[in-house]
This record gives sequence, C-alpha cells and structure tokens, in this order.
Amino acid sequence: MPSLPNSDELIFFVNGRKVIEKNADPEVNLLFYLRKILRLPGTKYGCGGGGCGACTVMVSRYDPETKKIHHYPVTACLVPICSLYGAAVTTVEGVGSIKTRIHPVQERLAKCHGTQCGFCSPGMVMSIYTLLRNHPEPTLDQITEALGGNLCRCTGYRPIVESGKTFSVESTVCQVKGSGKCCMDQEERFFMTRQEQICTKLYNEEEFQPLDPSQEPIFPPELIRMAEDPNKRMLTFLGERTTWITPVTLNDLLELKAKFPKAPLVMGNTAVGPSIKFTDEFHPVFISPLRLPELHFVDTTDDGVTIGAGYSLAQLNDALHFTVSEQPKEKTKTYRALLKHLRTLAGAQIRNMATLGGHVVSRPNFSDLNPILAAGNAVINLISKEGERQIPLDGHFLERSPEANLKPEEIVLSVYIPHSTPWHFVSGLRQAQRQENAFAIVNAGMSVKFEDGTARIKDLHMFYGSVGPTVVSAAHTCQQLIGRRWDDPMLGDACRWVLEEIYIPPAAEGGMVEYRRTLIISLLFKFYLKVRRGLNKMDPQKFPDIPENFTSALEDFPIETPQGIQMFQCVDPKQPPQDPVGHPVMHQSAIKHATGEAVFVDDMPPVAQELFLAVVTSTRAHAKIISIDASEALALPGVVDVITAEDVPGDNNHNGEVLYAQNEVICVGQIVCAVAADTYARAREAAKKVKIAYEDIEPRIITIEQALEHNSFLSVEKKIEQGNVEQAFKYVDQIIEGEVHVEGQEHFYMETQTFLAIPKEEDKEMVLHLGTQYPTHVQEFVAAALNVPRSRIVCHMKRAGGAFGGKVTKPALLGAVAAVAANKIGRPIRFVLEREDDMLITAGRHPLLARYKIGFMNNGVVKAADVEFYINGGCTPDESELVLEFVVLKSENAYYIPNFRCRGRPCKTNLPSNTAFRGFGFPQATVVVEAYITAVASQCDLPPEEVREINMYKRISKTAYKQTFNPEPLRRCWKECLEKSSFYARKLAAEEFNKKNYWKKRGLAVVPMKFTIGMPMTYYNQAAALVHIYLDGSVLVIHGGCEMGQGLYTKMIQVASRELNIPQSYIHLSETSTFTVPNAIFTAGSMGTDINGKAVQNACQILMARLQPVIRKNPQGSWEDWIAKAFEESISLSTTGYFKGYQTNMDWEKEEGNAFPYYVYGASCSEVEVDCLTGAHKLLRTDIFVDAAFSINPALDIGQIEGAFIQGMGLYTIEELKYSPEGVLYSRSPDDYKIPTVTEIPEEFYVTLVRSQNPIAIYSSKGLGEAGMFLGSSVLFAIYDAVTAARRERGLTKTFTLSSPATPELIRMTCVDQFTDMIPRDDPSTFTPWSIHVS
Ligand SMILES: Cc1cc2nc3c(=O)[nH]c(=O)nc-3n(C[C@H](O)[C@H](O)[C@H](O)COP(=O)(O)OP(=O)(O)OC[C@H]3O[C@@H](n4cnc5c(N)ncnc54)[C@H](O)[C@@H]3O)c2cc1C
Ligand code: FES
Ligand code: FES
Repeated sequence: MPSLPNSDELIFFVNGRKVIEKNADPEVNLLFYLRKILRLPGTKYGCGGGGCGACTVMVSRYDPETKKIHHYPVTACLVPICSLYGAAVTTVEGVGSIKTRIHPVQERLAKCHGTQCGFCSPGMVMSIYTLLRNHPEPTLDQITEALGGNLCRCTGYRPIVESGKTFSVESTVCQVKGSGKCCMDQEERFFMTRQEQICTKLYNEEEFQPLDPSQEPIFPPELIRMAEDPNKRMLTFLGERTTWITPVTLNDLLELKAKFPKAPLVMGNTAVGPSIKFTDEFHPVFISPLRLPELHFVDTTDDGVTIGAGYSLAQLNDALHFTVSEQPKEKTKTYRALLKHLRTLAGAQIRNMATLGGHVVSRPNFSDLNPILAAGNAVINLISKEGERQIPLDGHFLERSPEANLKPEEIVLSVYIPHSTPWHFVSGLRQAQRQENAFAIVNAGMSVKFEDGTARIKDLHMFYGSVGPTVVSAAHTCQQLIGRRWDDPMLGDACRWVLEEIYIPPAAEGGMVEYRRTLIISLLFKFYLKVRRGLNKMDPQKFPDIPENFTSALEDFPIETPQGIQMFQCVDPKQPPQDPVGHPVMHQSAIKHATGEAVFVDDMPPVAQELFLAVVTSTRAHAKIISIDASEALALPGVVDVITAEDVPGDNNHNGEVLYAQNEVICVGQIVCAVAADTYARAREAAKKVKIAYEDIEPRIITIEQALEHNSFLSVEKKIEQGNVEQAFKYVDQIIEGEVHVEGQEHFYMETQTFLAIPKEEDKEMVLHLGTQYPTHVQEFVAAALNVPRSRIVCHMKRAGGAFGGKVTKPALLGAVAAVAANKIGRPIRFVLEREDDMLITAGRHPLLARYKIGFMNNGVVKAADVEFYINGGCTPDESELVLEFVVLKSENAYYIPNFRCRGRPCKTNLPSNTAFRGFGFPQATVVVEAYITAVASQCDLPPEEVREINMYKRISKTAYKQTFNPEPLRRCWKECLEKSSFYARKLAAEEFNKKNYWKKRGLAVVPMKFTIGMPMTYYNQAAALVHIYLDGSVLVIHGGCEMGQGLYTKMIQVASRELNIPQSYIHLSETSTFTVPNAIFTAGSMGTDINGKAVQNACQILMARLQPVIRKNPQGSWEDWIAKAFEESISLSTTGYFKGYQTNMDWEKEEGNAFPYYVYGASCSEVEVDCLTGAHKLLRTDIFVDAAFSINPALDIGQIEGAFIQGMGLYTIEELKYSPEGVLYSRSPDDYKIPTVTEIPEEFYVTLVRSQNPIAIYSSKGLGEAGMFLGSSVLFAIYDAVTAARRERGLTKTFTLSSPATPELIRMTCVDQFTDMIPRDDPSTFTPWSIHVS
C-alpha cells in the first residue's frame, strides 16, 4: 500500500460534547465507540447488522449549501466512526436523564407502558425523538413509519405507538377506520349498563410535560464553522489494519478512486458494513467523501429527474414526493412505483443512511429499487478522472455483465430517471415475509409502452429480484411480446415464456422454489391487471375495464396506524388511595428503560483485567472430533487462551448437558472450544482460526420423521386416556385422520445471552452477573463444572432484556462455559453472544408433529380422539420431557371429548437442544386440537365456531386427567368475545366481501382457551422472599423471582405496599441473587407473581405482626415512628417469607392428577384479509377477552397479553426457521428471521380483562404471562377461513390442513389457481432441497 500521511484527528460531537479521537480506527463502529469508549451504554446491541433498531441514535449535520441542520436516525452498529467527521450524535443519554430532566418522549413511552424489558426502549426513544426534531407535530403515518425499523419482542408495539401518538395533533380524536367516530361511541363497546365499572384509562395524559422544541440542545456552532470552512482538506485515519480517506472535493475523490480502484466508496455503509461483518470481507482502504455537492442534488427537466448518487433513500423519497406533487400524473408513474417500495424498504434508519448510488452499485439481488429503475429506463451518470459517461441501468448492468459494468475507478455521480408518458405504464411489485423491513421473497419492476392510442405493445420490460444471484431481466419474453395486444392470450404466453426464461432450480438457495415460481407469474398478472385498468382510464370506450371482482387485486395492503381500546376492572372506590393494588402502575424501571439508565449486564463497566470470550461451534451435526488445532489462534495478538473440555475441573457433562464438546459433536452449533482475548474483536478473529477436523458419524437425525425411523427418543411415552376410544370409533358417523405440523420458534429476546464471570481471590469463589430466569440452575451448573460447593458461587440477576423461556436452562450451560474460562485463566470473563451465535446455539420452541384420528357425529359433536404427538427435542434432554408432558396434558384445550387418547414422545435429533418457550408446549398442542375441530366443521359443513361451541366444556367438569374445574369464565369469555366483536355481523360482511372479490379474501376465526398455570409438582411452585426494614423506614424487598420485563418487581412493590400499608416510594427492589434467596425455582409458567407474591406477602405479614404491639401503643404514629420504636424494643425488622407452593401432582402411571393450581380462560377473535395472489395477509382486527380474575396491575397484565398475542401471531404466521438438510440453521439474524414489527399488529386491537374469582392466588389474581401466546392462533384460523373461501370459489371443497406457520408461501400455495397450476414442479427424488422442515 502506498505510504500515507499521519492519521488525522477525528472530530465530532456526542450529546453536545466535543470528541477528538486521535486514533480513529476505520474498523470501529459508532455503537462500540459509544458503549465501550465513551461509556454511554444506553444505546444497545441487538443484532449488529442494522436489522433491529436497538442501537438507533440521531445524527445531525449542517448543510453549508442550504444552511440547514439535518437530523436523521441511524443504526449505530453500521456507522463507522470515521464517517462522523463534523457530525453531532445524540444518544438516549443526550435526550434526557433521571439525573437531570427526562424528555417528554421518554416520559410518555414509560407512562404509556411502552417498555417492558426496556432493551428496545432507547432505540424507540431515539426514533420518536428524531421524528419530533424534524416534525414536532407528526402525523399518525409518520409515527408508524418512524418506528418501522425498531423491533420490540415484549410489548406488541401498541403502547409504543400510543406514546408516539400523544405528540400528534391527529390523535386527539380517536378515529376508527377514518370514520371520524370515536371507538368508545360504538354501540358494541358501550359497557356502562354492566354492573361492574369498566375502565379504559391506563395512564393520565394530564401528567405529561408538554413538548417544547425550543428546549432542545442547539447544534454545536463549531460544527457549523467546520462545515462552512472553505479550506477543508482531505482527512486520513489510520487504523490497526485499515486506512480511511475522506476527500472533500470531487477531484480528490476521483484521484483517490484511480489510486485505490478496489477501495469501496463508503456512503451509507449499509452494504459494505454487513459484508465486512457477516462475510468477512476485508478492505485495506476505504474512501468516504464528506458531503460533496456534486453528489447531492436534484435536477428536474422536462424529460426527467436527475438525482445525485449521494442522496440517501430518505432524501430520494422526499425528492420524488416533491416531483410527484409538481408534475402531471402521467409523467410520474416510475416515481410513484419507487415511492411505494421506498415506504417499506428496510426501516427509517437504513433509509436515512443508504444512498441511491450505493444501492445502484451494490446491486443486491433483492433490490427493491433497481428493477423499477431499470423498467423506467433510468441511466447512470458516471465520472472518473478520464471524464464522464452514461450507462443504461438495464438488464446487462443488473446481471453484472462485464461490458455493462462500472470501471473500477469510476463513481456514480447521479441517476437520471425519465418521466413516464401517457401510454407508458410502470409498476413495482413485491412480496416479503413481512410487509415492512424485510427483503423481498420476489420483487419486480415492470413497464410497458403502447403505440399511442392502442393496446399494442411497443416496448416491454420485466425485471425480477430474488429469483437468482442477481436481479434478472425477462428480456426474451419481453422481446417476443412486442407487437402483441395487451389481452388474456398475451398474458398466457407471457406467463409460460417468463417461467421458461427465469428458471429457479429446485435446490436454489433461499428455498421456496415453487412459491417463487408462482410469484413470478402472479406479480406479472397483477401488472397485467394494473395496465388494463390504466388503459381503461385512458379510453374507457376502447379498452374494457377489468372485472369488478378483480379490482382489489390491484392494491397492496395499506399500512395503517394501529388503534384500539384496553378494558379492565376499575378499582373499588372504597379502596384506600395509597393502596396501589389493582391500579395500572407503571413498570418500576420504565423511566430508566426510556433514558437508557437501566443497567443490563453488558452495560456494566469493565472489571479490572477482564477478557472477552468468543466460542467456536461445531459445523457438523454428528461427527467425531479428530483434532482441535488452536495454534494459529493462540499466536494472534491479544489472545490469552483457548479453553476446551480438558479445562473443565468438574462435570463437563451435567445432567446430560455438555459444556464443551468432547470427542464428538452432536449438533451444528455445539460449543467445541472458546477463545479468550483482550478485546472481543480479537477473540472473534482468533475463534475463526481454530481448526477442527471432524469425521461424520451416522446416523444424522434432523427431522421428527427421521427420529421416528431411527427410534430416537429422549424419554418414554407419556399418555392420557379416558373413555373407550376404540369402541367409540365404531359408533360415530364419520372419522377423519390427519397430520398437523407446527414449526419451531426463536425466542429473539432483544438482549442476547450475556455473562460476566468474576473469579474471586479466595476459596474458589466465583461471582456471575447475567440475565436468567433461573439463577439457581446457573449456580448448580457452575458449581458442578468447577467442582466446588454451590455456596461458593453467587449469581446476580438484576434484569434480562427479554427471556420468554429462552433464559431458563441455557444460561446455566453458557454461564458454566464462561466460568470455566474465568477459572482457568484467573481473570474475569465477559461473554456476550452475538445474535447469530445466540440463535444458533440456544435453539427455541419445539417443532411438533401430530397425527390424529377423530370420530364425530354429523352434528359436529366429537366423540373420540386419538392423537399422537412428537416434538423435536434436539440433541440433549433440556426440558423436552416436561414440554412433552405439558403437550399431552394441555392438548384438550377447552374441549370435552368423552373418548380421548393422547400420547407423545420427545424425539432426540442432531439439532441444538430445544428448550422452554412461553406457553411451554401449549401453543403447539392446541393448534392441533383447533385444527381437527376445524376439520370436523369442514366435514360437517358447519361453521367452525359452532363446532367449537358444541364441544366446549360447559359445566363443572373433569379434564381428561381427571382434574375438576369450573369452565364458567371460559363460557363468559367466549360469549363476550362473540358478542363484543360483532362476530356474526362481521362474518356476514366478510362473506359479502368475498363474493365481490376474487383475489382478496377475508376470514374470521374465534378460538377459546383453557390455559394451565404452574407445574404439576408442588415443590416447583415454592418461593421465598427476604424483607428488610431499615431505620429510616425504607424497605428492601428481595425474592427469588427474576425481572425480565413482565413487571414482576413492580407487582411485588404493589404487594409490599398493600401489606405494609406504606407508599410504594418507601419500597425498593434491587436485584435477585442466589446470595439473598437460595434455591429459588425458575421464573416461568406464568407463576412469578403468584408464588413470589405469596412469599413477599408472608414476609410482610410476619413483619406487620411483629410491629402490631408498637402500632397499638401509638396508633396515630407514623411508619417511621413505629420503626424507630420497634428498633428500641429490639424487634427484628428483617424476615424471610415463604410460600410452600400450590398443591399439585400428576401420576403418569394412573394418568391422573391435580396437575395445575388453576386455569386461565380466554377467547380471541381475529379478522384477516388475504391476498390470494401473493400470500400476503393483513390483520384487520383482533378482540381478546381474558379471564384475569382480579388484576393486580391491569397495565402490566394487558401488556403481557398483548405482547404474548403478537409473539403468538408471529409463531403462527411469519416466523420461520430454516434448516439445511444437514442440520445447519440458516436463519440467524433479523434479516432472515422475521418477528412482527409495528406493521403486523392488528389495525384495531381490543383487549378486555374479564373479572372472575380465584381465591387460591394472591388477591384473587391470575398469572397472565403466557396465555396470550395461543390466542395468536385466532389469526392462523382466520387465515384458514379466508383461504377456505378462496379454495371454495375455485371449486376445491376438500378439507385441507393448514400447518403452522401460515407463511405467505403456505397461504399462496394453498390458494390453488391457474398460476399455481402453471409452474413447473420437480420430482422430489431428483434433488436435495435447500431447506427442510424439521417438525
Ligand atoms: C437492515 C437492512 C435492510 C435492508 N433492506 C432492504 C430492502 O428491504 N430492500 C432493498 O432493496 N434493500 C435493502 N437493504 C439494502 C440497502 O438498500 C443497500 O444496502 C443500500 O442501498 C446501499 O447503499 P449504501 O449507501 O449504504 O452503500 P454502501 O454500503 O456505502 O456502498 C455499497 C457499494 O456501493 C459502492 N458505491 C457507493 N456509492 C457509490 C458511488 N456513488 N459510485 C460508485 N460506487 C459507489 C461502494 O463502493 C460499495 O461497493 C437493506 C440493508 C440493510 C442493512
Ligand atoms: S444492533 Fe444495530 S440495528 Fe440491531
Ligand atoms: S420492551 Fe421492547 S424488547 Fe423488551
């Protein structure tokens, strides 16, 4: 590399403070710099690839041309610090703090209950804050758009959107579907006639501070001076391995590009950054110009618009909007097509970073813009030292033909997009797993020009994305069609030819081959219809319009701002005002979440001498380890040690769970060894250098089917049987048999698993800080691994950034891996799993296969069911046996089936071991019963809701395992759900809609729920607490439960406040640890509040009993007086509290027991609209009724229900794990695993907490953490209903099974039509597919 001058100083501002970095390293990104160098840990790491929004910050720059300051959101993980010269960065810490003043955005997010675990909250705050800096009174659309790039796994988004809405003038009147009516005015929502008063107010907006834009920090004047400096000079930053050069003139840039032709031109870094991080691309030199005017302009002429290559996609969006508003409609077809895709391309952050030039040049195969630009005949203006030239942005360029390419020294100056003309039609079409912020499964840009006044094709272009390694042109097809009329025969030929021309091989990367083939022609058909509609508008006499019932196929689903109401019991007016129980109290840490001051494990400052750990995982599913060669890794600078199974002093295999693989590996993703180094970057680099030689072992079992073939199980069969199944089958009218597949699910907690293991100097003590649901388990594993008594190990758990079951067992294994390293080296170890590793190693929900045989009468009454369940447990026991037991016990859901046999086994496979996940088997098992009930309905030609109701438990009954229960609240939830959702009226309306629309169908479904709480063993329901009263009257409450966002600590404060009769402000909860409460069981099974609440209550009652004599002597005294007096009288002010546990049991021999302390009932109704041509669906409305008995905190309970519902909806619709046939998990990031975003939630969302009695639980409450998950299946069955309507219309009346998830692929391929019939099919025996299902 040529010699370069010394490194320059990098100057930028963070939160108003000047940062001068003398050693700016081009490989360092802003997220790392903020968190680790500036120690501003409010900005979070969630994925590192721009896909989750947890790291959102605001960047502000002064534009010397316009003299304006431009604020925009970015994902800090993709911003190289070197690109920040002259910029002002605002992080959540700079927005507001509890130490100084919190900002209205933070206050409202917290008070609207928009935070649960709080890990996404700083990112949410920054997205809304940046929006408000640009638009102090945003529209509702702007709010939804601003949040599209931020993922939240806990809340279900509704309260986050609501907090944003409080800034919008549009939101003062609630407008249901633009009717202008307030949803509270609707008759069906009118509750005042009911005996019990219903409340809907979860917060008080009168408390909110007003937003005063004049109070925002000013842009640093120094940066204005720097930007206006006429003598700016080129900057160079020299890093450890790379050089960054920032030219300030176009000439400099061209010189540099000539000198370093291979160096990338870093603009938004949204393509370069991810390739470096995820594909190990290395560049010794980066060129990144400061804002050059030559690349930042819009120029509109009579013929078209030229847009500078440096324009961000957000600026492109603004420029196109402006052009569209100025130009006649006929000229703006290309711009409007681009605008449609710009709305859903990535999230707001990426759109503000990514540039037009970067997009065009990087030519991703999934590009949403390039196919449209090509169809619109765009031209690329290039420049180099040699001069300027133009190249067409056409098929040759997009297909990367060498002769159509840029020369290495050339840069894109701008892109010219011609206006469209009257007889010219341009469209952009796309389908993705999720509507916004998801790469297209297939997209297309198409255009057609006609001879003026005719429908004769003069010119035709079709470009497709995501059908091969590049965007491809269907040039031949288009050529052949020139001169043809735009009519049905033309369409038929076009479809056949395009399928021949664009061939997706059966084993193509990305899978979904038949679906993608179908999309190719389905999108073409949509274009065909659009053009026909366009021609008709041009001349209705000459060109007939498309059939009326086809018109809804023209439009994609609109993105609406969600709205709804939450209803709950009002607090008894007679309750003392100080008593917080029953009130929607804000999460105890909500403000800290919103200010970024809530400390998660990796936010903790460095510990002296700490090292970082990176793990090396198996690349084989089942193999012998021949050798591990770590010599190259050990030779790298900063590497301290490599840890293997040999280094485990105690149990490397504890209860069947292996810490470090020894001799053999049993899944892809199993930890083989770990590298400890002085920085994480070095540990990671070194981990890549460890060489492991394997020899494959047979069998390699990946799917349930394969496990059954090999008789590979993790435990014996579990069975429940009642009645006489065989006999009953003889007398029923009909019998059906079927199979249901429910695929797995990734927890996708926003905080990946994180550990800080600190070895102590003495007595082999070790302290761990981590996010877990089960500190005791971690203590057990670490003690066993280190071969020390458990008393030497302390696990501290303050909070987890989401858990959902994924932090019950896995932290023990991973914590022990870290502890072994810390023990061996004698230094603290920080172990933060990257998102890809977390998804690969920790696994998730069990995929399930069910086979059923159902006997029923013609009136829909089910008489007999024989169901077999198999779950894919993965390679080690984990909790699979228990999950399977729950599947068997819970699978009847709300139905009484007199002759019922249900059995199952967990399969042992060579996948990472699946584990607990919210609902613990229930969400999978109940899909099966709902599926066969739906199938029975279809066979009897009855509505599914009728068959559900006929078979539902009606009176005090016994479950199949002979536990007595009263289903009265179930019936109430069901009835209210049907009534208040206007189910029957809307069903009729949907039928009407379906008659009028051939390509779009609506569906409704209502599902009942009988959800079990807790565990079938009493000792698993025990809990302990420790309460100290200090002499100033303040109270410290500690218990064994873990706070992971569900608000457990908040509820415990409410309990202690009521029991001690003191304000909540007196009570503090700090953390959970094995030091303070020993042997605590996991926080799971919806039992956190139940059992810990009883323990806290017990402790408080003991203390109050002790204080009684003092209180009696001075009844008018204050709490402080009584505490002082009690101390004087030597009364102990500290005690433990204990709850023995609910009396539950299960005898698997007898197949009976009182397995669960009580049930939570509910019902949910959802309505969807399905696009039969693409498989997209839109959730129009959901009504949920959940029996909460008496809610201790309605805000938290509703938060749990809504969050779980959205997570369930994700499970049943868009979340899809992809495995290779060799057992490699492909989906390891938010790019390829799609959880719901704000766009997926119901447009109208109504949640009601139904009042009932539950004297067994604290304050007659119920545990609501998991129940909502299954209610998400109402969306699945609504989709089923819509698809059924489509199939019926197409003459397909046979019952079909819709498995879970109902992805766009499944929906589209089930809506069989002429297009699905047309695609080529491959003989499965002739190829190995790219991915397989493992259920
Ligand atoms: C999380 C995420 C989600 C995304 N979602 C979508 C999506 O839904 N749909 C979609 O279409 N895209 C999506 N993208 C891709 C995104 O559109 C591209 O990454 C982006 O447009 C590239 O622009 P950039 O400025 O960041 O390029 P950079 O990363 O800065 O550069 C990319 C390449 O272009 C070259 N280059 C840049 N500018 C010029 C120039 N003026 N002249 C010559 N060469 C140049 C560079 O040398 C480099 O090789 C997504 C990206 C991310 C990270
Ligand atoms: S961490 Fe930056 S977007 Fe996820
Ligand atoms: S609160 Fe959003 S991820 Fe937990």
